Amino acid sequence: MSKQFDVVVIGGGPGGYIAAIRAAQLGFQVACIDEWKNAAGGPAPGGTCTNVGCIPSKALLQSSEHFDHANHHFAEHGISATGVKMDVAQMIARKDTVVKQNNDGILYLLKKNKVTFFHGRGRFASKAEGGYEIKVAGKTEESITGKNIIIATGSNARALPGTPFDEVNVLSNDGALRLAAVPKKLALIGSGVIGLEMGSVWRRLGAEVTILEGLPTFLGAVDEQIAKEAKKAFDKQGLKIELGVKVGEIVNGKKGVTVNYTNAKGEAVKLDADKLIISIGRVPNTIGLNTEAVGLHLDERGAVVVDADCKTNLPGVWAVGDVVRGPMLAHKAEEEGVAVAERIAGQHGHVNFNTIPWVIYTSPEIAWVGRTEQQLKADGVAYKAGSFPFLANGRARALGDTTGMVKMLADATTDEILGVHIVGPQASELIAEAVVAMEFRASAEDIARICHAHPSLSESTKEAALAVDKRSLNF
Ligand code: FAD
Ligand code: NAI
Repeated sequence: MSKQFDVVVIGGGPGGYIAAIRAAQLGFQVACIDEWKNAAGGPAPGGTCTNVGCIPSKALLQSSEHFDHANHHFAEHGISATGVKMDVAQMIARKDTVVKQNNDGILYLLKKNKVTFFHGRGRFASKAEGGYEIKVAGKTEESITGKNIIIATGSNARALPGTPFDEVNVLSNDGALRLAAVPKKLALIGSGVIGLEMGSVWRRLGAEVTILEGLPTFLGAVDEQIAKEAKKAFDKQGLKIELGVKVGEIVNGKKGVTVNYTNAKGEAVKLDADKLIISIGRVPNTIGLNTEAVGLHLDERGAVVVDADCKTNLPGVWAVGDVVRGPMLAHKAEEEGVAVAERIAGQHGHVNFNTIPWVIYTSPEIAWVGRTEQQLKADGVAYKAGSFPFLANGRARALGDTTGMVKMLADATTDEILGVHIVGPQASELIAEAVVAMEFRASAEDIARICHAHPSLSESTKEAALAVDKRSLNF
């Protein structure tokens, strides 16, 4: 007789482990299955985000930023730092420690909430009485039954056809986060979020970085004015970004990689690099789930087909996070996980797709929520725009980081905030105020009337709100 659970979650990334905890809080008997292994072969829950995504990338961004500051920004503060060296092995070891702290934290949280954790690969076996039988292939094979199943199996890096990842020369996000030394020449394909974050890390450490992007526009999903400002800053840093290229043959040789491509002018170019990172998006992961056994619908990309509530075509089977439609973001996966657990409990779980923030953790950081100016134009919405440069913000001057701006877009008639776009210092933190404001359907005037601490970067958000009404006080 297999073990019975009210809820079985397949996948222990941000979507899965959070869904498991919320379901347990609501009084269900919950199992969470995750197959990720640490170097010793033990469980390492947290998924892509914890192991090879959000957390390790931010650890390396932090280390490389310290290095960059020591080399380029200390002097203006009167601090002399000569002979600054980067010990890459120590940087990677620190990153691994940060990852392990998060893995251990998740195991602790699952235990605290009485979620039964299974380390192994879960797959559908059959429809069972009152639910589904799931087989877990770990050290041994076990069989468990769940009345409700939540699929949270995440995504994998997309490879270029004909160029498999070897994680030695041709790297996905996994290899990009554990290089043993700084490559002299680093090439990246795709100037999206990973391309910019990983390109920044290794450039700050001294690599000569070239990013090849297929589209003719830089960061097409970002507000144009913000993307332009960011591009200027990246150019100044020496991050070489070539737009509108067509990547051809890639030769992975003993000494490195050669990327043949056609540039925007139509010229054939050969780019030699020591390492190549391919960051051209991710594909939903349903490998080995044996969805055929129960007739679960997948779309042509392999994503699990769900409705707005994360319900699949099968009663009692739900799916959340990167394996379904929508942005591939950890916080989106978490929100869906919570909402699904609450829906299973008969509550009204809710995810507001209009207020999901995006952050790119480069320097300057880029963050936004809501619609861009281009989207509002395309949607035919009459809007007012206000912006405030960090150059005019006292705290930014004191920090020595005055790149960028806060830009606010509000409805021309009602003044409701429709989008906030930031490029500049700590944009990742500043965006939270905009998310709260939009969630409460605040007007620009609401933000303009709220007292913001002085001196703080957040005063720029207030000033952008004032600028919507053409009455900035400090610019
Ligand atoms: P995942 O995190 O992918 O977790 C899925 C889990 O399921 C994995 O542990 C996997 O091993 C397990 N699994 C799969 N199939 C099975 C099976 N059959 N049985 C058992 N276990 C299984 N997002 C942000 O919001 N902010 C960031 O800063 C950010 N940075 C990123 C940086 C990089 C380099 C990358 C690659 C991604 C980043 N992301 C970031 C995206 C973020 O990592 C994902 O959106 C998020 O991890 C999705 O969560 P998930 O739970 O859907 O899937
Ligand atoms: P992405 O979708 O952000 O960017 C991929 C880029 O590659 C695009 O600009 C695309 O035009 C380009 N591209 C695609 N095919 C190409 C080709 N053949 N030749 C040249 N260019 C090509 O995907 P990325 O950077 O791989 O990241 C995947 C996802 O992971 C992100 O979309 C995001 O959801 C998540 N992520 C989030 C982060 C964050 O929130 N800070 C950080 C890193 C990843």
